[in-house]
Amino acid sequence: MMDQYMLEIRDLHVHFRVYEGISRVLDGVSLDVRKGERVGLAGETGCGKTVTMKTVMGALKIPPAIIPKGEVILDGQNVLKMSAKQLLQMKGTKVSMIFQDPMNALNPVFAVGTQLFDVIRFSKRHTSNGGKLSKKEILNRAIAALDEVRLPDPKRILNSYPLELSGGMRQRVLIAMALVNEPSFLIADEPQTALDVTIGAQILDLLSELVRTKGISVLLITHNLGVIQETTERVNIMYAGQVAETAPTALLFENPKHPYSQGLLASVPRLTGGEIAEGIRGMVPDYTAVPSGCRFHPRCDHVMPICSQKKPSLLLVEPNHLVGCWLYAKEGEAE
Ligand SMILES: Nc1ncnc2c1ncn2[C@@H]1O[C@H](COP(=O)(O)OP(=O)(O)O)[C@@H](O)[C@H]1O
Ligand code: SF4
Ligand SMILES: [Mg+2]
Repeated sequence: MMDQYMLEIRDLHVHFRVYEGISRVLDGVSLDVRKGERVGLAGETGCGKTVTMKTVMGALKIPPAIIPKGEVILDGQNVLKMSAKQLLQMKGTKVSMIFQDPMNALNPVFAVGTQLFDVIRFSKRHTSNGGKLSKKEILNRAIAALDEVRLPDPKRILNSYPLELSGGMRQRVLIAMALVNEPSFLIADEPQTALDVTIGAQILDLLSELVRTKGISVLLITHNLGVIQETTERVNIMYAGQVAETAPTALLFENPKHPYSQGLLASVPRLTGGEIAEGIRGMVPDYTAVPSGCRFHPRCDHVMPICSQKKPSLLLVEPNHLVGCWLYAKEGEAE
C-alpha cells in the first residue's frame, strides 16, 4: 500500500548547546502532513516553528543543535539518517521551501534567470539519469514558471538582478523557483512577513491557489492565524516547543480547547500585525530553564497542581481533535 503520509514527525526533541547550558527547544513534537493535505503550524514568535522546519529540511547545524530523540519521515525516508547528497537531491526535486525573507534566499550577484535555470538543470540531472535539457527548453520552462506566478514580462525579469525587483516580485520569483520542478511537498515559513500587508496577502493568495490547483502537500508555518484559516485544512498550534492542539482548521477555530489556543484566537486582530499575542499574559519561556510539566503553566489561567508536575500528552477530545492539556484528562489519566 502506498504511504498516505508526506511527512511524519514523531516525538522530536531538538536542543542547542548555548553559553548558559542546554537550551531545550523542541520537546516531543509530533505532527504529520498527509499526501495532498495543506497543514498549518501556528504559534507565537519563538515557539519553535522554524527549528521544526529546519529539522525537516536537514538544515539544522549539528552542533550547536542536538537531536537526542525523534524521527522525521519525509515521503517514507528518515531525514535524520540521510547523507548530505541524498538531502540535496530531495530538496532539489521532491520537496521545496519558501522562506520569510526573499532577499536572503536569492543571490544578489546573479541575474534571476541564472538562478532559475540552475534550479531547472539541477532537477533534470537528478531525475532522469543525467539527461540534458536544451537551452531553449530550459528558457521555456523558466518563462512558464514566471508566468504562473503572474510576473509580467518574464524575459525582462530573467535578465534582472534581485535588487532591481520589489520585495513582492522577489517573493514571486522564489515561489516560481520552489514550484518549477513540480515538487510534491512545499514548506513555507512565514512567506509573507517581510512584505507589507497588502503585498503579503497577494502572495499568500497566489501561493494557496497554486498549491490547490497542483494538489501539492503543504506545511504552512506562520504566526498569522487569519492566514491559516484561509489556506489550510488542518492546523497544529505550537507552544514552547510542544504541539498544544491539532484539529481540522474549521473545528479548531470554532472550538479551541487548549487555553493557549483560546488565548491566541482571542488576539487574532493583534496577531496580524506581527505582534506577540497580547491576549496571553507573560512570554515564551527561556529554553535553558523551561517550566516543568505543562510548559504553558506559568501563563495559564486554568492551572492545577498536576500541571507543574507532569507533562500532559495529546488526548483525543473528539474525532481528529487532539489536545495536550490536563483539563481534558479523564478520571485516572493524570495518575
Ligand atoms: N542555532 C540556535 N542556537 C540556539 N538557539 C536557537 C538556535 N536556533 C533557534 N534557537 C532558539 O529556538 C527558539 C525557537 O526559535 P524559532 O524556531 O526560530 O521560533 P519561531 O520560528 O517559532 O519564531 C528560540 O528561542 C531561538 O532562540
Ligand atoms: S495542562 Fe494545565 S497549565 Fe497546561 S494548559 Fe492545561 S490547564 Fe493550563
Ligand atoms: Mg520562525
